[in-house]
Amino acid sequence: MNEDPVVGDLVVGPSTVVLGIETSCDETAAALVMGGNDVLSSVVSSQIELHATFGGVVPEIASRAHLELLNPVIARAIVEAGVEDRRIDAVACTIGPGLIGALLVGVSAAKALALAWDVPFVGVNHLEAHLYAALLDDPAIELPIVVLLASGGHTMLVEMTDPGEYRVLGQTIDDAAGEAFDKVARFLGLGYPGGPAIERTALDGDGTAIAFPRAMRDEGLDVSFSGLKTSVLNHVRANPDVDTADVAASFQTAVVDVLVHKARRAAAVVGAKGLALGGGVAANSELRERLLDACTADGLRAYLPSRAMCTDNAAMIAAAGWHRLRLDGPSELDTGAYPNLRL
Ligand code: KG4
Ligand code: ZN
Repeated sequence: MNEDPVVGDLVVGPSTVVLGIETSCDETAAALVMGGNDVLSSVVSSQIELHATFGGVVPEIASRAHLELLNPVIARAIVEAGVEDRRIDAVACTIGPGLIGALLVGVSAAKALALAWDVPFVGVNHLEAHLYAALLDDPAIELPIVVLLASGGHTMLVEMTDPGEYRVLGQTIDDAAGEAFDKVARFLGLGYPGGPAIERTALDGDGTAIAFPRAMRDEGLDVSFSGLKTSVLNHVRANPDVDTADVAASFQTAVVDVLVHKARRAAAVVGAKGLALGGGVAANSELRERLLDACTADGLRAYLPSRAMCTDNAAMIAAAGWHRLRLDGPSELDTGAYPNLRL
């Protein structure tokens, strides 16, 4: 797009500052981003400790915590960015997918601020925002790329041809990759959230110790992790003395093996110029290293956003909001929250 679009009396361009708000799950986050990729501030307040004793996110607790945390988090994001309120040109907020009560806290706050400041409100799809995280650290991206989006709720391979233009190439037919990490970690007694716990435990183990299955590895672009999870459970029950570190490492290697294999395959199918990672699982070191090796081997550019940009944050929401504002203009103020929103 050459000309910067005009929304009302706002020219949406490189100096447009968007406040992003994220409350879809268990992170309360706010960020200020200028021009779609210049992160002025990004504040994330995690509720992990509140939910850890329950072994997972409790929706009612999440909503209440968002209510308490959101205003101070937004205030901090504005102070850290060093700008006045009136410098904020638009307010973007996750409208789905996510927990309904949690989403509503963010959406209500975003609309109220947009009204008070008389600036556009932009509803953002959380999954689309995860795709933009890859562009945040590296704005000079060469499209098309394939993004492997692996989070707690979703695992998908998406072709991005232009900002705002995507095609889902494949996805999980059962558990998301992050969900598999969380369930296996819980079974192994490693705590919540499971991804970082498995990664830490796996450091002392051997990823080749146990040959867990790689379901659907050589079929199409969909993935499946539910059989792998069951296989881990069965193996540990049948071998109570097995080394937990070996189980964690072998499980992690199996997940990474499938994800990297499918991502390479997807890149080849669409003739992508590069591969990008997004979503919480993209914080995993083994996945990052193996994807980088695969890109080197296949002559692809690798886009590995910082770990902070892989997991839930509001900078990606503000970035996606800037692009959406340019493409579609503002959202209506009667926009709701959509727990099952799809990409
Ligand atoms: O994107 P995200 O922060 O929230 C969702 O939108 O779901 O992803 C959270 C998921 C959790 O399942 C968590 O266990 C997983 O990402 N995760 C990891 C790592 N860090 C977070 N999985 C594997 N390795 C990690 N280092
Ligand atoms: Zn997410």
